[in-house]
Amino acid sequence: MVPCPGPRRSLPLTTRTTAPPDTPAAGPAAVDASTWRALPSALRQELRTDHAGEAGAVMIYRGVLALARSPALRDFARHHLQTEQQHLDLIEAVVPLAGRSRLLPLWRLAGWLTGALPAMLGDRAVYATIDAVETFVDQHYADQVAWIDHHTAAATAAGRPDTAAAALPALRQLLERCRLDEVQHRDDARARRGSAGRWPQRLLVWGWTSLVGSGSAAAVRVSRWV
Ligand SMILES: [Fe+2]
Ligand SMILES: [Fe+2]
Repeated sequence: MVPCPGPRRSLPLTTRTTAPPDTPAAGPAAVDASTWRALPSALRQELRTDHAGEAGAVMIYRGVLALARSPALRDFARHHLQTEQQHLDLIEAVVPLAGRSRLLPLWRLAGWLTGALPAMLGDRAVYATIDAVETFVDQHYADQVAWIDHHTAAATAAGRPDTAAAALPALRQLLERCRLDEVQHRDDARARRGSAGRWPQRLLVWGWTSLVGSGSAAAVRVSRWV
């Protein structure tokens, strides 16, 4: 994704969820305008980062497809693009226009460059990039799922009425569905990237994927607020 957004600062839980995978078809969570406003502000911020990230993810694969020539890489990108577009559609059903990042053009451009630049270097560079991005996104979604679990348990234990509670199971299912898809994307890329080659290439790929990881974290921090 773009530089898709790490929620650990505003969402204090960092534990990975151990819940069994929610499967496949989480439809768009039914979040109307009043429910959206009732969601905890930290969760609304996280969902904004998710929307920015999925918009960027779509553009990553468009960037790859703009420059890649290898049939195997193009198939890979087309397949992943389809899933990222589904994620974006699902999250757009949850995050209203007013709740989205105002920097979407920037995230889209960053996403396109995140796909196009490595595509100029070759297939392995793209696979290494996707591995790095999806490793980040897996943790990002896992933190959000853990936060929802914690929030739900705390509200239940306290017997507090929570106006947003009815929306949380569907949101959790949506986030977990996206996370599992991102894990598949990561594993697919990791299996294809193979060895990193000789040291100059290895250094270049290491430098690039480090930049992608830190860029993703920075994009998350910014898109929480803007
Ligand atoms: Fe995605
Ligand atoms: Fe993905």
